[in-house]
Amino acid sequence: MTIQRMIRESGKIVFFGGAGVSTESGIPDFRSEDGLYRQKYSVPPETILSSDYFYAHTGAFYDFYRDKMLCLSAKPNAAHFALAKLEREGKLSAVVTQNIDGLHQAAGSKNVFELHGSVHRNTCLRCKKQYSAEFILKSKGAPRCACGGIVKPDVVLYGEPLDSATVDGAVNAIRDADMLIVAGTSLSVYPAAGFIGYFQGKHSVLINRDETPFDDRCELVVRGKVGEVLSDL
Ligand code: APR
Repeated sequence: MTIQRMIRESGKIVFFGGAGVSTESGIPDFRSEDGLYRQKYSVPPETILSSDYFYAHTGAFYDFYRDKMLCLSAKPNAAHFALAKLEREGKLSAVVTQNIDGLHQAAGSKNVFELHGSVHRNTCLRCKKQYSAEFILKSKGAPRCACGGIVKPDVVLYGEPLDSATVDGAVNAIRDADMLIVAGTSLSVYPAAGFIGYFQGKHSVLINRDETPFDDRCELVVRGKVGEVLSDL
């Protein structure tokens, strides 16, 4: 069965995506050959992107974060726009993403569960004042609030819990879906990767360049670029 046929037969599609959805927007993923975690650093990126490292070496965290995690010039690609269109047509009920780049909302998607937060939300640890990603990009060293407190990005660092309301929304959407599209993710980070286990609907499709642990558990595997596959719908 083709993905087009599955979509025609479905009315409550949920899309579950990862960094591979944004590579066609010029944002490298993490675990591919040219991914962020494959590049050589004195401290491994997974260590830098941890809660302990943020509080112990805030300046060094931000040097890496501004350089590698803030891609504010990136634009939505065909995958993001195709999903926003499916939502407008009433076919797609939610996007569940592990990405923090905000590109789904920039393409027009409304119901987006950002499991790992967003670079566009930044909060002063002392007075809770909100700051933009642009403020963080322009800052030097550890960004300071007007009150003197440190500003922290609302992204889930290693060692931090996911936002419970976001998790509940994502799991409920997946549980209620009649079709699940999983794309651009290695499904190697938990608890996020485990949420697709709540799917109990009819059609499931995986669109991923490399193999994943989910390949043998879904109805259709498409080895391709998610932007190209979704733009052909
Ligand atoms: N089309 C389809 N698949 C793609 C594309 C593309 N254009 N580009 C990359 N991929 C695939 C790669 O083959 C890879 O399997 O996307 C997957 C990306 O996997 P990861 O780099 O591991 O990214 P992700 O699964 O999102 O990582 C999960 O890890 O470090 C944490 O918080 C970080 O949210 C991230 C989480």
